[in-house]
Amino acid sequence: MLEVRELDAFHGHAQALWGVDLAVGDAEVVSVIGPNGAGKSTLVCAVAGLLRTVRGRILVDGHDLTTVAAHRVCERGVAIVPEGRRVFGHLTVHENLLLGAHRRGARSGHRATLAEVHELFPRLAERATQPARNLSGGEQQMLAIGRALMARPRMLLLDEPSLGLAPVVLDEVFAAVRAIHAGGVSVLLVEQDIERALAVSGRAYLLAEGRVVTAGPVDQLRDDPQVRRSVLGQ
Ligand SMILES: Nc1ncnc2c1ncn2[C@@H]1O[C@H](COP(=O)(O)OP(=O)(O)OP(=O)(O)O)[C@@H](O)[C@H]1O
Ligand SMILES: [Mg+2]
Repeated sequence: MLEVRELDAFHGHAQALWGVDLAVGDAEVVSVIGPNGAGKSTLVCAVAGLLRTVRGRILVDGHDLTTVAAHRVCERGVAIVPEGRRVFGHLTVHENLLLGAHRRGARSGHRATLAEVHELFPRLAERATQPARNLSGGEQQMLAIGRALMARPRMLLLDEPSLGLAPVVLDEVFAAVRAIHAGGVSVLLVEQDIERALAVSGRAYLLAEGRVVTAGPVDQLRDDPQVRRSVLGQ
């Protein structure tokens, strides 16, 4: 589904990624873990087409998307749930969701997709006419995920969905990730909540200072001394 090859990425003159190799297969959940400033959001933004000062290759189903605009990445079936949720506070929950459905392949079937999103997050149906700014942090995260799903993606990029959420809400969000995966969508999940991320993933990459330090199946990574040192501070 997604293949990232020898990716370098820059913010202005500052390099944030060095030679990152990463792959996500069809209907696979893959985590990228790592400390603050490791380059996780940079990686996700580069894949989503939101950062174009990159070198290397970003391939989706073999199509080279390294230099194409974000809306073209979306057309290829990749949707992003950005760090910090970025919902439109003055628009209603319903309006926020509809904004996700503007891509060509999603517009005509948006009623059916909306029903699926409401089934996944019943809270969004209950609060459909509320301005998004009235939602709790957890509900806003659900809205951000719902909005991305409205594009009917085959791959979801999730940047730190756990940020600032209470444990009981986290359970709901990660249960949704499992359900989305069960529906056949690939997920690239960026997280600092390592335990929860690994619990829903098949494989993971540890990123530190812009480089992949180690990668592998989650069972292997849980016991990896580099993971423990880098992320758990042990
Ligand atoms: N817009 C920007 N302009 C300049 N430098 C940036 C910008 N965004 C990120 N950086 C730098 O790039 C590096 C990687 O940042 P990035 O946000 O990708 O890390 P992260 O792993 O997502 O961190 P966090 O866990 O805090 O979200 C950091 O050194 C950061 O300071
Ligand atoms: Mg980040």
